[in-house]
Amino acid sequence: MTLTITDNRTGATYELTITDGTIRATDLRQIKVDATDFGLMTYDPAFMNTASCRSAITFIDGDVGILRYRGIPIEQLAEQSTFLEVSYLLVHGELPSQSELDAWVGEIAGHVDVDGSIADIFRGFRRDAHPMGMLQAGTAALGTLHPEAVAIGDADVRHRQIVRTIAKIATLGAMAYRHNAGKDFVPPDRNLSYAANFLNMLFGGDGSYQVDDRVAAAMDVLFILHADHEQNCSTSAVRSVGSSQVDPYSAVTAGLAALYGPLHGGANEAVLKMLRRIEKRGNIPAFIEGVKGGDERLMGFGHRVYKNYDPRARIIKKACDDVFAVTGVNPLLEVAVELERIALEDEYFVTRRLYPNVDFYSGLIYEALGMPAEMFTVLFAIGRAPGWIAQWNEMIQDSDQKISRPRQIYTGYDERDYVPMSAR
Ligand code: ACO
Repeated sequence: MTLTITDNRTGATYELTITDGTIRATDLRQIKVDATDFGLMTYDPAFMNTASCRSAITFIDGDVGILRYRGIPIEQLAEQSTFLEVSYLLVHGELPSQSELDAWVGEIAGHVDVDGSIADIFRGFRRDAHPMGMLQAGTAALGTLHPEAVAIGDADVRHRQIVRTIAKIATLGAMAYRHNAGKDFVPPDRNLSYAANFLNMLFGGDGSYQVDDRVAAAMDVLFILHADHEQNCSTSAVRSVGSSQVDPYSAVTAGLAALYGPLHGGANEAVLKMLRRIEKRGNIPAFIEGVKGGDERLMGFGHRVYKNYDPRARIIKKACDDVFAVTGVNPLLEVAVELERIALEDEYFVTRRLYPNVDFYSGLIYEALGMPAEMFTVLFAIGRAPGWIAQWNEMIQDSDQKISRPRQIYTGYDERDYVPMSAR
């Protein structure tokens, strides 16, 4: 299939090949806009309509609200799989056999400890340091401990860093929490499941805490729901930074930095703060009017890709029931449900196709589990780690991938002379 472009100025025509619903942006360069220039470019500052890579990992149809990892619907994975099996699927492309899964789980469990030097770094932070800041420092520090990681062309070396990343990020996240709480770190327990070990590292340590299986299962589902989401802001950061051929810990640290922002993973923290501010159902109409008037955004609503209900939000809403059965209902749930109902009936949100996203209900569960709001994005990050590292691994092996290096539209001065200070 081709696209014919006619240049009205010269009458010249150009045949551009359409493959997989795209044209190659570099094919446009044969169209010269003036005699000296580089060739026609596209302007797409937020990648609104640019396929930045080819990927076989995650499929989203945002119009209907479909999310699949390696072809398998998120609903089936949330219902039937486990976070570590999903991690294997994302990284390897296929579901594991029982022996492959056992080996994978054993490998991850074998790498959950982190070096004492990282504990020292964490202890050096102020008590009120944001856990996402500490987590970024922790993942960057992993690169100093595993210098072999720079050998990104070696599949065995890559595999070891993939395992370490998934294993250690939960330990680092728990350490950040414990530091904020002014408590000693709880060493990982290799005999517990991934989610149960994480909960134990957060809340255990004094012998009285017993992980509730239902809570661990809900945590596992939350991790599954966050595990990948194709070329979102943080994954694009991982790929872009990774394209410089840096070690994967540095690339993942870039992903964490992107996720920290309130328009991305930071939204779950912002949702809870918003719900607390609204406080009760009666205050919702005034809040909605403020949003429509442009005072602020309704956090946890809207998505660049989903123009329908985010399928993850639907599953989380259901998971709320399981967690609240153990912890008691979060009173803010009532505010959230009513806020969703009113927004979904309001013309402003309907015409813009704004629906709840993954962050709208997740904070309510996290709070019920006893997490402070600052930890919410850390939980997102732990879940997203397998996606980041699987996408990084795919990119490294993609022969089409060069260093990411966008062009620009220069809007500054033409050449001009330096003016000495005395003449300004
Ligand atoms: N509340 C109110 N209005 C909104 C919202 C919102 N949450 N989201 C979008 N809009 C409006 C915009 O004001 C704009 O209106 P206009 O056409 O009158 O100017 C229109 O909807 C389109 O919005 P854009 O900002 O162009 O959409 P974009 O795709 O760039 O943004 C985003 C997507 C960042 C997620 C946005 O919807 C948002 O800010 N949501 C709140 C933050 C949030 O929940 N982020 C989490 C996203 S999911 C994730 O990262 C895991």
